[in-house]
Amino acid sequence: MLTKQKSLTAQELYESLKNIRVGGTVCHYSLKKCAEFVPVINEINELKEQLNAVILVHSYVSPEIVYGVADYVGDSYALSKNALETSADVIVFAAVRFMGETAKVMNPEKEVLIPTALDGCTLADSINAADVRRLRRQFPNYTFVCYINTTAEVKAECDVCVTSSNVYKIVERIPNDKIYFLPDKLMGQNLVNEMHVRGVHKTISYYTGTCYVHEEYGEEQIFRVRCEYPNVKVVSHPECNPAVVANSDFVGSTAEMLGFMRETESKEFLMLTECGLSSRLQKEFPDKKLVGTCTLCRYMKSNTLEDILRVLKDPAPRDRVVLDETVRQKAAKCIEAMFAYTRQ
Ligand code: 13P
Ligand code: SF4
Repeated sequence: MLTKQKSLTAQELYESLKNIRVGGTVCHYSLKKCAEFVPVINEINELKEQLNAVILVHSYVSPEIVYGVADYVGDSYALSKNALETSADVIVFAAVRFMGETAKVMNPEKEVLIPTALDGCTLADSINAADVRRLRRQFPNYTFVCYINTTAEVKAECDVCVTSSNVYKIVERIPNDKIYFLPDKLMGQNLVNEMHVRGVHKTISYYTGTCYVHEEYGEEQIFRVRCEYPNVKVVSHPECNPAVVANSDFVGSTAEMLGFMRETESKEFLMLTECGLSSRLQKEFPDKKLVGTCTLCRYMKSNTLEDILRVLKDPAPRDRVVLDETVRQKAAKCIEAMFAYTRQ
């Protein structure tokens, strides 16, 4: 991340972004493009101070946001913790709407603003609160575990929230041998396999949702890349299918993948996840090489600098996260249960 400064120049931004090829190899940053970004970045950074605002940015969001205006960049768990701990009056959450909702659940007194142009995502949209109530009638003695990529209404109907960085640990610790996991089918299958590997005996049922970014990867892609790059390390996200997970060298949340790449001596990586992580590799580990491809998440990439500036200056009603108080309190219990299990 750039060191905080009053005013950034186009040349400084260009130096920071020039090694990034968004989407693997195609789009790169020019000095001209950086000159267009810089006035917006500087205005956002000034407004942030005036309003005592903090900008939380998921690693999948575009690099000019990550390296231009973010106060914190991370995975969904780290950002939820940042939201819980911040003393700012205003939180701008550049990610997806439901991550902004989680910040609001934990901070009812703060203004939470979301610049994303699209609501939800394929995974979060796969289930609603009525579906969960129906499932609870169908699976009466189960503990309902929901992935963080769900709306506040869905969390309000569940017992414990999890993220990709703590799902296995939490399910292992839940004192019930009947678990219903939602909404990600592939993560549910990976959860079943991982509990088997760990010798944890639980009956695990799961829902049918998928993330369109991660479900598209297949094991044959890994085999092809390994033929050409025998020393490549394959890293993937637990939203990928079990065959991909089984053939990866490391599986984890976005933050855990970066941690693995930082610590390993290896120099070549195939990253089966959203392109934002490839951008972070290119920028933060210039001696390491990205091979193969990545996929853009249209929801995460719908955040723009212009929209961040707009929500800080003059938020429209849809930019503000507003939650029903009963839903908020129930969702807070579900999220607090995640923090409690993680602390154990
Ligand atoms: P993380 O929990 O790794 O941040 O993942 C969130 C996400 O949206 C993955 O698709
Ligand atoms: Fe949703 Fe997948 Fe995009 Fe994550 S990467 S926000 S799960 S569509």
